[in-house]
Amino acid sequence: MLLALTKTANFMAEPKANELMEKIVSLCKRRGFIFQSSEIYGGINGFWDYGPLGAELKRNVKDLWWTSMTRFREDVVGLEATIIMHPQIWKASGHVETFADMMSECPLTKKRVRTDQVDPQTGIAYFYTGAGSADGATSTETFSVLIAVGKPPESARKSAAQFYEMRGVKSPELQGERSEKIENTMLYHPESGVRLTEPRPFNLMFKTFVGPVESEENVAYLRPETAQAIFAQFKNIHETSRQKVPFGIAQVGKAFRNEVTPRNYTFRSREFEQMELEFFIKPDEAVEAIHGTVATVPSTGHPGEPQPNWGWQAWHQYWVEERVAFYEGIGLSRQTLGFHVQTPEELAHYARATVDILYKFPFSKKNEQGEMAGEELEGVAARSDFDLSQHERFSGKQMGVFDEELRAAWGKLDEEKKKDLWQRYHDARLKYLTKTGLNAEKAAKKAKEDADGLAKGQYIPHVIEPSAGVDRLILALLSNAYTEATETDDKGKTETRVILKFHPRVAPYKIGVMPLLKNKPDLVKKALEIRDTLRQHMNVFYDDGGSIGRRYARQDEAGTPFCVTVDFETFEGIKDGANAGEKDTVTIRHRDDGRQERIKVSELLGWLLPKVR
Ligand code: GAP
Repeated sequence: MLLALTKTANFMAEPKANELMEKIVSLCKRRGFIFQSSEIYGGINGFWDYGPLGAELKRNVKDLWWTSMTRFREDVVGLEATIIMHPQIWKASGHVETFADMMSECPLTKKRVRTDQVDPQTGIAYFYTGAGSADGATSTETFSVLIAVGKPPESARKSAAQFYEMRGVKSPELQGERSEKIENTMLYHPESGVRLTEPRPFNLMFKTFVGPVESEENVAYLRPETAQAIFAQFKNIHETSRQKVPFGIAQVGKAFRNEVTPRNYTFRSREFEQMELEFFIKPDEAVEAIHGTVATVPSTGHPGEPQPNWGWQAWHQYWVEERVAFYEGIGLSRQTLGFHVQTPEELAHYARATVDILYKFPFSKKNEQGEMAGEELEGVAARSDFDLSQHERFSGKQMGVFDEELRAAWGKLDEEKKKDLWQRYHDARLKYLTKTGLNAEKAAKKAKEDADGLAKGQYIPHVIEPSAGVDRLILALLSNAYTEATETDDKGKTETRVILKFHPRVAPYKIGVMPLLKNKPDLVKKALEIRDTLRQHMNVFYDDGGSIGRRYARQDEAGTPFCVTVDFETFEGIKDGANAGEKDTVTIRHRDDGRQERIKVSELLGWLLPKVR
């Protein structure tokens, strides 16, 4: 049998991008990775369920993140907070005011689109100034519709007539028709062709009511990010965990956004999961007071082990690189990733710098040079002291910390240095306080208090936030793993099958265990014994149905990196070769190249563990 492996990955040559996405979507349904939510009722847009293989894959990803972020670190602890929280949290965070996308509507079909996500279109635009009817009804509303070049004007007139009829003008006589060719416009609805309404902000938070009365004072929101619970619980965690700044709080959990146009499969969903770390650091002025200077680090590459004299820029750089290392460790090589340093116009209201880590998805677009940047997998934001300051302001509870090291160091500074650091801290606080709308007098008074507080060892910690989406990562892992193998048998018949080349750490099943024949009790007994031993340590799939080739193929499609087969040589001893005669061995078969080797049953676990963890 001839085996030709064809990598059909995301950065393959045109024209396969959408075709590849379709294949991934179909495989995910066929093999039970991802289903449409509520499918038997026709589905619900922007919601997805993870089937047996998807649930395992997702669990592995979240466990790996949690382990690397909390258990393997001395300076990060965890939190599991509620999804619904006090509505003031979302006022303090800015979500009630500003968490909105600009949305436009088709006035005919009422379908809404995100204004910035309309694909550019070219066609003939028809314009009407109004309409009247025989019974005297009139409308002076203007209407415009874009039709394809070469299409008869009747289709434009039909849409216009529908529009005016909806406004009470029966059998409308259209007025003021004119037409014009328009190129690359984003002003028309991509489906109906009708000119969109003016963009309006649309808040993305899902609203609900707490308690039996549906009144304004009982409004609550499903959290649109997990981060805010971390800020709201900062004081409790700081006091109970015995952590000192710098330290982090990690959380994995559901987030909800009523996205205007959910799209690209699970990429932009309305219910999704986040893995967020809020890492609290000293303000640069405190670092400088303690250590004399703030360390500078090269702007690219990993800055190494954290140092006490790091300021926010070094920590930001550190977390970007740590996160990239995480992705590399689960099989997403640097070439599959991209980076986007947000411009000042793109930055969220709370951020002083953000680096987006991108993945080159099959649906990612290429630029004019034919390069693919990718789509956001994770954002690493430097959030300054905005969040804790906001919660202090809205809750009236102190969110600052006392730092003995700073207090002691401040006393030893010369007057000039004290003055310089005091002034810089004061100015930064004043800038924030003025932005919140506080009047000049109050802002000046509070900024002075805050700067005086710094001199006594008090400050509100700053934050570096690596915030990743679980579902986007699952989609990236699936896209990255998807590989097709074309096999030609002895009779010249070719067959293409799928291999999901997941990194063993994330693979839903780590190993398939199989007796060569299911009607041989000895083989079955031994295979079940192996399964029972291994499954204390990892997820094992036991399979005794069908030919061994079919069973291997099924595991390849599920992404299982190894299969182990109990055969007659397990009992009779290896027939020939260097280890001839050796008993109690099994065949290990490697998913990615079909390679097979024999291994002692007693050594199997030790062989597997370092590969799958
Ligand atoms: N706390 C910061 C924050 O929430 P964000 O960039 O809005 O920042 C962080 O979201 C990550 O959450 C994104 O990088 C993405 O992976 C994921 N995410 C955001 N919106 C999503 C959506 N509608 N569907 C799936 N994942 C989403």
